[in-house]
Amino acid sequence: MGEIMSTEKKNIVILSIETSCDETSAAIVKNGTELISHVVHSQIVSHKRFGGVVPEIASRHHVEMITYVIEKAIQDASYDWSEIDAVAVTQGPGLVGALLVGLHAAKALAFAHQKPLIPVHHIAGHIYANALVEPLVYPLIALVVSGGHTELIYMKAPGYFEVIGETRDDAVGEAYDKVARKLNMPYPGGPHIDHLAKQGKATYSLPRAWLEEGSLDFSFSGLKSAVINLMHNLEQKNEPISPENMAASFQESVLDVLIQKTEQALERYSVNHLIVAGGVAANLGLRAELEKLKKRKGIQISIPPLALCTDNAAMIGAAGYVAYQNGVRAGMDCNAEPGLNLDDFSS
Ligand code: KG4
Ligand code: ZN
Repeated sequence: MGEIMSTEKKNIVILSIETSCDETSAAIVKNGTELISHVVHSQIVSHKRFGGVVPEIASRHHVEMITYVIEKAIQDASYDWSEIDAVAVTQGPGLVGALLVGLHAAKALAFAHQKPLIPVHHIAGHIYANALVEPLVYPLIALVVSGGHTELIYMKAPGYFEVIGETRDDAVGEAYDKVARKLNMPYPGGPHIDHLAKQGKATYSLPRAWLEEGSLDFSFSGLKSAVINLMHNLEQKNEPISPENMAASFQESVLDVLIQKTEQALERYSVNHLIVAGGVAANLGLRAELEKLKKRKGIQISIPPLALCTDNAAMIGAAGYVAYQNGVRAGMDCNAEPGLNLDDFSS
């Protein structure tokens, strides 16, 4: 009697780890699409009083939390190591001291349990957060908007990344946080501006940085400085400032540029699926404009739920699965890369 061949595809289970900034997180992800367990420890309270993430404090917190977070993710999944196929970890970009904590933990576990180590680009993670929600349809355009990144990425196939537009100075979330600070709001200021903008009207005249004809790059530092200068001038003249209207004016400037450049990218690359990722994807104004874009262009738009927009390990597991399938592996000499380039990461 011949051997019975199973036609069932083997499930690939990945333990993933993310420590690039101020979240210590671990997850168990099956086949890049199914989240089995997820633990996220945010350090936001520790950084709040400094008005931003303090790298040294972030590293220390990661060291304190990493073992607990990983053990809890494995326990919550009720998996043992024989059921885990690989360990995926954020290699970069991010804060070097923070990245090193996750990377060393991943290396130690991969070595001890003889599992492949999969290095993951943090932005690939943000993009693949969407794969945990619905299937991605290639080719696609990804709009990544976070505290550290503003990028338009063309993806013709899984694991293929071509950066077609990026910020030349401040990331969009960074601009939100700096404007919020000027308006005396706590860190991170993005959600506060978003909330305030809803109550105001775009009455202040602020610039839009379109850059050269046809460029898909962004620039937000001029807009941020324009808000700060305008407020300074109004203060000097003892004129009242409406925080709601200032927030609405700033948000309108940001969204005009983001939406218009995204629309240009969709047309230039003839794609029908737009995926949006990163902390700023939580922005309600942006979500409303994307809804209009979807109707206007008749395309599919995916935005992850709020918990998967901000930094987390689930997204690293989803991106790690694609890299695993594409044969990406790292050795024990793998190092943290604070400035890791996404184009070079295509697999
Ligand atoms: O992706 P993320 O959690 O961390 C990075 O990798 O940067 O993004 C955090 C950023 C912060 O700048 C925060 O102010 C911004 O996302 N953010 C928002 C909103 N929620 C978070 N910005 C605008 N509107 C929001 N609702
Ligand atoms: Zn991030």
